[in-house]
Amino acid sequence: MPTPPRTATTDAPRALRVGIVGCGNISANHLEAFQALDSVTVAALCDVDGARAAAMAAEYSVEHAVDSVERLLELGLDIVSVCTPHPTHQQVVLAAAAAGVHVLCEKPIAVDVPAAEQMVQACAEAGVKLGVLFQRRFWPAAAELRAQIDSGALGTPVLGQVSVLLHREHEYYSAAGWRGTWAADGGGVLMTQAIHYLDLLQWYLGDVARVQGEVNTYKHGEHIEVEDSATALITFTSGAMATVLASTSADPALGVQIRITGSNGASAELSEFPEGSDGRLTLQASEHKIAARPVHPAGVDANVELSRINGALKDHHRAQITQFVAAVREDLEPAVTGREALKSLRILLAVYESARTGRPVDFAPASNQRTIVPPSVADRLYTTARA
Ligand SMILES: NC(=O)c1ccc[n+]([C@@H]2O[C@H](COP(=O)([O-])OP(=O)(O)OC[C@H]3O[C@@H](n4cnc5c(N)ncnc54)[C@H](O)[C@@H]3O)[C@@H](O)[C@H]2O)c1
Repeated sequence: MPTPPRTATTDAPRALRVGIVGCGNISANHLEAFQALDSVTVAALCDVDGARAAAMAAEYSVEHAVDSVERLLELGLDIVSVCTPHPTHQQVVLAAAAAGVHVLCEKPIAVDVPAAEQMVQACAEAGVKLGVLFQRRFWPAAAELRAQIDSGALGTPVLGQVSVLLHREHEYYSAAGWRGTWAADGGGVLMTQAIHYLDLLQWYLGDVARVQGEVNTYKHGEHIEVEDSATALITFTSGAMATVLASTSADPALGVQIRITGSNGASAELSEFPEGSDGRLTLQASEHKIAARPVHPAGVDANVELSRINGALKDHHRAQITQFVAAVREDLEPAVTGREALKSLRILLAVYESARTGRPVDFAPASNQRTIVPPSVADRLYTTARA
């Protein structure tokens, strides 16, 4: 493990040198978060479009701008932040690990499981930290729901509901050539948007036993190859069950709701509306009482511009990036490790697999007793249903 850097003459930690790869939409969230920290210097920006890296370096007073990861890694960095299209995450993370540089990667960790496992293993073998951006875990309300579950306020969580009804216009997909393609995006609403909420769902409900799903493209079919809509049924090893509904074809958007119900009947709902705003606990139901806050604040524009969504995420990017820098300095685990980020990727890939085969994908046995319709009853019911 590379030791946390210290200056030669004092015991004060020397400034960590950071490089950012990919200077598109989300990179400013990373750059500004690192620049806001003491003892951190953003030393270099990298983009295959060298002019884009140079323009951003000039705007933010960053010393170096380069057009290849190899040149970036020659600059003597401690941390690399990866803000490139999904399938390129693998090559950048592997190069950083080979250079002994800690790496913080945007979601999804990768677009397939072997690539993600290789990245996790390479970072472990190199002794560098691998963190993956899931900044919605840093919403205070997301942490509060997690604390409620940990305290037993919901008993054992047994039911989950995730609704992700977002709005994208065709221009969103055409603005960057990689969006909406299987090769360069790796998936649609599940891979790019819903993955944040699948991450929260599995954080709340634990390991997954079985996934069943369907995908389709309702609004953007003429413009993209990947799905704009998906549904999933997920069973967890605890025996908990959840439904997921996700789409970028809603107009106006309805945002995101995640509802968890526990074995004692209590429920809590976390909402993000409009997209990009801080998650809020909009419903608490327990002991015969419901406390609800409005899900939709009055007068809010539901279809938010992408730049406004990304801008609104900055506080939580800053929180996760601050934690990552502390993890590097103090040799702690990143809040979301590569291994943790693999979990949401496995779930969404299982939805694709299930949609392709028409069969559920089994990960592990569910532990608790399942309610089974007896065969004699099933014969009667199914015959009636088909009649
Ligand atoms: N955490 C979040 O909420 C959030 C929000 C938006 C985007 N993202 C993620 O951030 C990543 C980037 O998304 P974006 O919207 O900023 O994309 P973008 O298309 O706006 O920017 C990507 C940049 O990477 C550059 N690039 C491509 N391949 C490269 C390579 N091999 N080396 C160096 N540069 C390369 C491109 O030229 C482009 O400038 C994606 O993984 C996306 O899912 C996360």
